[in-house]
Amino acid sequence: MYTSISVVSLALLGLAHAGGPIPQNINVKRATQTLKVDTTKPTDAFNVPADFVGFGIESAFLNNFHNAFSANLVSSLRKRMSVPPVVRVGGTSGDRFVFDPAQKEAKTCIGLPDGGKDCQQNSEAIYRLGPSFCEGYKAFPDARMSIQAPMQESPTPLNNTLAFVRCAWDARGGDANKVAAVALGNEPNFYKGTTAADYAKEALRVQKAVIDELGLKGDGRKFFEVANTASNDNAKFGVADVLNAGINKNKLSNSAADHYYQISRKHDWTDDEMQKLMLSHRAITERLQTRYGASIAKSREAGLPFVMSETAAVLGGAPLTFMSGFGYGLWAVDFGLACMARGVSRVANLAGRPVAGRVFWVPDETGGAKNPGPQVRAPYPAAIFLADFVGKTPGAVKELDLGVKDHPYLSAYAMYDAQQGGKLGRVALVNMRLYNGTRTPGDKRGVETFRVPVPQGVQSVKVRRLHADHGAAAMGFDFGGREHNVTWAGQQWSYSVDQGKGHGKVVEDEVKVQDGVAAVNVPDSEAVIVFMKKCH
Ligand SMILES: *[C@@H]1O[C@H](CO)[C@@H](O)[C@H](O)[C@H]1NC(C)=O
Ligand SMILES: *[C@@H]1O[C@H](CO)[C@@H](O)[C@H](O)[C@H]1NC(C)=O
Ligand SMILES: *[C@@H]1O[C@H](CO)[C@@H](O)[C@H](O)[C@H]1NC(C)=O
Repeated sequence: MYTSISVVSLALLGLAHAGGPIPQNINVKRATQTLKVDTTKPTDAFNVPADFVGFGIESAFLNNFHNAFSANLVSSLRKRMSVPPVVRVGGTSGDRFVFDPAQKEAKTCIGLPDGGKDCQQNSEAIYRLGPSFCEGYKAFPDARMSIQAPMQESPTPLNNTLAFVRCAWDARGGDANKVAAVALGNEPNFYKGTTAADYAKEALRVQKAVIDELGLKGDGRKFFEVANTASNDNAKFGVADVLNAGINKNKLSNSAADHYYQISRKHDWTDDEMQKLMLSHRAITERLQTRYGASIAKSREAGLPFVMSETAAVLGGAPLTFMSGFGYGLWAVDFGLACMARGVSRVANLAGRPVAGRVFWVPDETGGAKNPGPQVRAPYPAAIFLADFVGKTPGAVKELDLGVKDHPYLSAYAMYDAQQGGKLGRVALVNMRLYNGTRTPGDKRGVETFRVPVPQGVQSVKVRRLHADHGAAAMGFDFGGREHNVTWAGQQWSYSVDQGKGHGKVVEDEVKVQDGVAAVNVPDSEAVIVFMKKCH
């Protein structure tokens, strides 16, 4: 069944109170669009896994995250989900670990691949670990972690790889419920002289050794995340090639992973560029299709969950306004939703390493003055938004047609509740038009009104908002102070106020349904979820 939604842009100042409160400085007139939505689940909606939302940590810095603050942020996400989230522990550093059972120190830096010694924080650094490093794998009791088997050195010295995997596995209690997967290597498309077939062959050799080492039996052997390719510019091969090379012929993989960075080159980092390259539904969906489309399709065809195990809006070198401001948060919302709608099974959002700015939070003070911490950064609430959209009961998602082809800034997604006979349960509405609230003289902030058709019998809807007064320029309370707050349904997460537990009363608008339609306002640089209220 089809019903129409229209997106009406209003000229404004107080006109559209039906859709909830409108900020004061709204006075931009927009075009009108019409879109369509099924009020019951269409056959091509994707059944979203309950653990869609996760986080990612760079291997060598795991112990920086082994603290109450980071545990609270993971628990804050866990509470919104029906199952434990996955924390991916991986990356370049973990692929080069040298394990020394006799070393006292948890971690020492022994140089760079080119023989250089300038280790500190260099992403190419080679670390030697002692057994106490694995204490880090005791973090996050209410999450499942992944363990990365080091494969960078070719051929992989199995004794080293197995000693490390064993150490991490034991710290995790040797409990398959606490480990999501053993990942076979990292970004093999960057290994020197390695083809997809070379990687597949070597990964299968490591896989067999890990199965023997951990004593995995029967279905318990289906425990491996493969590929973890980086499909950035000029990737030699991707997930589809690795699957074509036969890596999952033995059916012992449980996921195929890829890495995604929206902006991977240097830019001038202006607001215009942020709008064009990051806060753009068109840029996100085009990149997803051109670089990942074939791999997602191939994985789904093979019945293998496709995971974005390392993701960020920017690769690096950008100012913090790009790397950990609310613009990144809005990007993360639309990226997550667009991935769900295209059959991606999980997205890991970066917590990264303490020195990196492109993160959801900074775990401690070791990033120094350049990247101060501990701090929750502005993107973090995007993870909670996505988890609340997925919800606690199984659901299926479908991107909604906005009526105009490829609208650059607006997007809309429907979530159908499997347990309600596939009824429309929630609608996410995203307005990525860039509003920068720190400019003088002030920017004008526009608003879009989405007309959302609701299932029969629904008399009103609840609207929850991912909001910042400063729009895309908000840096979050911990970094930017009280003018830079980012709230999800009125709630906030902060190191200094709540150690990451979250605080504040839930704020939501109620919008009355008229003629089967709820008119919902979404200001520029804001995203909302519309919840269908149960009818009585
Ligand atoms: C693995 O074997 C190599 C070569 O014999 C040795 O140098 C290294 O210390 C061993 N590593 C471990 C963790 O046993
Ligand atoms: C917003 O405006 C301020 C002041 O002009 C500028 O420094 C900043 O880069 C702009 N963009 C963002 C996303 O903060
Ligand atoms: C921002 O958040 C802090 C911490 O919750 C709160 O004390 C303050 O009142 C908020 N500021 C504004 C302008 O809402």
